Amino acid sequence: MSNRLNVAPNDLSAFWMPFTANRQFKQAPRMLVAAKDMHYTASDGRQLLDGTAGLWCVNAGHCRPKITEAIRQQAGELDYAPAFQMGHPIAFELANRLVDLAPDGMDHVFFTNSGSESVDTALKIALAYHRAKGNGSRFRLIGRERGYHGVNFGGISVGGIVANRKMFGTLLTGVDHLPHTHLPAKNAFTRGVPEHGAELADELERIVTLHDASTVAAVIVEPVAGSTGVLIPPKGYLKRLREICDKHGILLIFDEVITGFGRLGTPFAADYFDVVPDIMTTAKGVSNGVIPMGAVFVKKEIHDAFMTGPEHLIEFFHGYTYSANPIACAAALGALDTYKEEGLLTRGAELAPVWEDALHSLRGEPHVIDVRNIGLVGAVELEPIAGHPTKRAFSAFIKAFESGFMIRTTGDIIAMSPPLIISKEQIAELIDGLRGVLRAID
Ligand SMILES: Cc1ncc(COP(=O)(O)O)c(C=O)c1O
Repeated sequence: MSNRLNVAPNDLSAFWMPFTANRQFKQAPRMLVAAKDMHYTASDGRQLLDGTAGLWCVNAGHCRPKITEAIRQQAGELDYAPAFQMGHPIAFELANRLVDLAPDGMDHVFFTNSGSESVDTALKIALAYHRAKGNGSRFRLIGRERGYHGVNFGGISVGGIVANRKMFGTLLTGVDHLPHTHLPAKNAFTRGVPEHGAELADELERIVTLHDASTVAAVIVEPVAGSTGVLIPPKGYLKRLREICDKHGILLIFDEVITGFGRLGTPFAADYFDVVPDIMTTAKGVSNGVIPMGAVFVKKEIHDAFMTGPEHLIEFFHGYTYSANPIACAAALGALDTYKEEGLLTRGAELAPVWEDALHSLRGEPHVIDVRNIGLVGAVELEPIAGHPTKRAFSAFIKAFESGFMIRTTGDIIAMSPPLIISKEQIAELIDGLRGVLRAID
């Protein structure tokens, strides 16, 4: 137990909190002071069941010994080493371990420190790849409405969440968007992958025709859109996107920052949907969220296209001071060991039916207008309060915190993605807790 329990910071004003209603928070702070396995400890000593794996990242649960020990040991041995023109062994070990896990053909990894950096890295690789191949006219990037690709300029440009874009000027030029795939009139309360909407992928043909294929570099989508409220792709949709990209020589990027590392019951969503992208962005689960880290996987052909010219020259002018940071690499190796020993990258598949039944038992509870699930991800969409969008879900979030568990809300959608170590009893506890919350809020 933390020795900081009950010691509240005495001034909350200096920290401008990210993606937070700062004024509301600072009037009634929700402080976490410790965590272990499936639980957080709040500053008043209460245990909170973690229904969200932190921010979709703590896939192996909290303070897992292999990870903690790896970090401790690495910090005392090699704390920092540059990855520009220098190397350290565990960065290479980690890269090899990661490509072994990845779909066949994704043989190379570029390290970053976050999902946002992974996305911007992937977009730059796509643009530079086409140039390296003599196709410099391919400069356009296609994202999707309601997509979330982090908060850097590339990511918000291809992203499709309006609130994340509207304050920030012209963003990247040469970007277009596919329509989102949320069809509640046809697909509400679907268990798993929805039936309707594969034809929405054909919109890519329309966009490509409009701009001409020779100008389009890449399409980026989340296989399952997470942050916008768990939008699961319709049956056949991702395969269709893959076919259209292949037909026109366009790179397909899967943003697997949430879906990577076991969230759907397979190592990656590419495995779940049996669709292999050209580039795959990851972060979060790669290090169990414990130390910031991201990894961009690329197919061999893409990597090899850069490996030309005089050998003393840098092939790709991109990288971060903390790319392949030794302590982050150690944390990631500890995470991969934990995933492997406990079978966590496929455990979601065993639990998915239990999770699905539990979630769908909320159908008919007050305010519920849709329930969605896949792997160990779920969403419960609420009818918004007229004239006050997001308020109902926010009340649910606060009530849940008061009642002893953590959920996440986006708009009027409650999203859940528990650590992959959750037990069946804890699934029941989480969903029954949410039932109580739905019955208690206005
Ligand atoms: C699909 C996706 N891409 C990118 C990001 C951004 O990751 P980060 O917050 O680590 O920059 C997220 C974060 O939730 C995400 O869900």
